Amino acid sequence: MSAPSTVLADASIRVISEGQAPSGAYVASPNFSQYGFAWLRDGAYCALAMDAVGEQESAARFHRWATDVVLGERDQISRVVAALDRGDEVAPGMMLPTRYTLDGEREGVDPDDAWPNFQLDGYGTWLFALERHMGDASPDDATSEAVELAASYLAASWRMPCYDYWEEFGDRLHTSTLAAIAAGLRAAGRILGRGAFLEEAATIMEFVHRECVVDGAFVKGPDDPRVDASLLSLATPFQLVGVEDPLVRATVQRIRSELVSPTGGVRRYVGDTYFGGSPWLLLTAWLGWHLRIAGDDEGYLAARAWVEGHAGQSGWMAEQITDEPQDPASVAPWVERWGAAANPLLWSHAKYLLMESEVPA
Ligand code: BGC
Repeated sequence: MSAPSTVLADASIRVISEGQAPSGAYVASPNFSQYGFAWLRDGAYCALAMDAVGEQESAARFHRWATDVVLGERDQISRVVAALDRGDEVAPGMMLPTRYTLDGEREGVDPDDAWPNFQLDGYGTWLFALERHMGDASPDDATSEAVELAASYLAASWRMPCYDYWEEFGDRLHTSTLAAIAAGLRAAGRILGRGAFLEEAATIMEFVHRECVVDGAFVKGPDDPRVDASLLSLATPFQLVGVEDPLVRATVQRIRSELVSPTGGVRRYVGDTYFGGSPWLLLTAWLGWHLRIAGDDEGYLAARAWVEGHAGQSGWMAEQITDEPQDPASVAPWVERWGAAANPLLWSHAKYLLMESEVPA
């Protein structure tokens, strides 16, 4: 049963609001054992969504939290940037984490442990969302310093292999991660009026066009010719490449032919085994958001219907729906380990609101 969209939009705003801690951080999921932290990636999309639906105060609180987190990493960022500028090797355990406690603390993981925590995309997505939030406003001193720190960190480190959007393949570069970094550097360059960050963003995009395209479509990474649904970000929302660009059109075509489940939900990539590699609500909403901007109303409405049809009665949106797995044998092991897939997942709701909001890209 699908609920009317206004009910789901209200439910989405409520889930995101209730998942925002007093600190301003957005929890990834309030009740899934592994997701009680604040990821910069998830949080940045929640802030974008809250801005898009007129909840600017919520977005402002998130950005203040993220600004403080980055300022708290000042010394570590200086060390890493100095080492990379000297040409030294920097161990992944020295790099900033992808997620923090809701109070903005590190989790106390072993610094030598290169576990999925080293991911660069969240810092780029944060900068992108921050610029959207600020509009034409000038940054205050704390914001300027945090933007400068995050952008310097990304400019120095984007050539390092790190874990991807899905916290996997830590020994590779990833097109979607590079896109988030380029988008973040572009945003930082504009916020601070700094040409060097804009130039670095252009260099990254030249690399993406040179190394991350196979047969006329963007691929998961320089070493991985598969398509990944997160490649949508190149166009929506980052606008690094236009929605009408033949490369984007071919990438979306691959997503639609290779990653869409029999009933219309979008999976992450072929070969995914996390909870069966099932269709994700946020990816289906992301495709719908992109298609809506591209003027494909039929595709947008089909994606919206799938997402709305898979929301729970209470309006909650899960991470993924495990009744259409690409790898049926790998559903039960995850459920036995951690319980059913996260529900609600805040950034599923964020992507739904972005799809449904009037704001372009
Ligand atoms: C996903 C990440 C996400 C995290 C928290 C992971 O399973 O792969 O993209 O940031 O969950 O939602």
